[in-house]
Amino acid sequence: MFDLSGHTAIVTGAGQNAGAGIARALAAQGAAVVVNDLVAERADAVSSEIRDAGGTAIPMAFDVTELSSVRDAVDKARSEFGRHLDILVHNAGIPADFGHGQFRTLDPSRWRAPVEINLFGAMNLVSAVIGEMCDAGWGRIVQISSGSARVGSDQGLSLYGASKSGVEGFIRHISQEVGPFGVTANTLALGLQANAAGSNPEVFSRIATRRPGTPEDVGAAVVYLASPEASWMTGQTLNLNGGSVTT
Ligand SMILES: NC(=O)c1ccc[n+]([C@@H]2O[C@H](COP(=O)([O-])OP(=O)(O)OC[C@H]3O[C@@H](n4cnc5c(N)ncnc54)[C@H](O)[C@@H]3O)[C@@H](O)[C@H]2O)c1
Repeated sequence: MFDLSGHTAIVTGAGQNAGAGIARALAAQGAAVVVNDLVAERADAVSSEIRDAGGTAIPMAFDVTELSSVRDAVDKARSEFGRHLDILVHNAGIPADFGHGQFRTLDPSRWRAPVEINLFGAMNLVSAVIGEMCDAGWGRIVQISSGSARVGSDQGLSLYGASKSGVEGFIRHISQEVGPFGVTANTLALGLQANAAGSNPEVFSRIATRRPGTPEDVGAAVVYLASPEASWMTGQTLNLNGGSVTT
C-alpha cells in the first residue's frame, strides 16, 4: 500500500521541520521529490539527505509568493524528472513577518504577508500544476493548515488564522472542480508541532497524547493523502493534532 513509485512531488517549505518530514516520507515511498525552500541551504541539505538514503530529490530555492518563480520551478521539475508533477504539498505557511500579535497593535503593512504565503502561495502552486494533473487523470493536492483556521484564540494569530481559513476554503472548491478528473484536494490541519512547542508542561497537558507533533507524524499523514489508495478522500480538512481539538 501507499506505493508512490513513478509519481513526482513538490513540497514547499521543505527545508526543515514538517516540510522536511513530508519530503522524506514521500521519497521513502518512491516518489521523486522537489524540495523547495526560500533558503537554498535548507533545500540542499534535505535533498542530499533524501538522496543519501537512496531516494530521488532535487532542491529548488524559490519564493512561493512569486507566480513566475513557481511556474519556472514546475517547468524545471518536468524537464529534470521527465514527467509532470502529480503531487503538490503546499506546506510553507509561516512568513518571515508572521503578522503575529494582537490585531489592534498590528500596522496594516503587516497584514499581507500571511495571506501572501498561504493563500496566494496556494493559488500560484495549484494554478501551475492543476492543468497537467487533470489532463493526465491523476493528481494529489495537499494543503497544510492549522487548527487556528477554525478555532479562535487570544494568542495574536488573527492574520495567520484568517489566511489558513482562506486557503481551506480555496482547497474545498478546487476539490469539486478537479474531482471528475481523478485529482483529489485535501487540507491537513496541524496542531502544535515539536519545533514550536518549547517545553512548557502546561501546553502538553492540553494535548491528549501529551506530546506535540513531529515531522514523521505529518509525513505519514501526507503519504496517505497522496497515495493511490486515497482516491475517494477529497474536499476534506483532516485534523492532525494529538487530540488537542476533537471536533
Ligand atoms: N509549527 C507548528 O506548531 C505548526 C502548527 C500548525 C500548523 N503549522 C503549519 O505547518 C507548516 C510548517 O510549519 P513549520 O513550523 O514546520 O514551519 P518552519 O517555519 O519551521 O519551516 C517552513 C520553511 O518554509 C520556508 N519558507 C518560508 N517562506 C517561504 C516562501 N515564501 N517560499 C518558500 N519557502 C518558504 C522557510 O524558509 C522554512 O524553512 C506551515 O504551513 C504552518 O503554518 C505549523
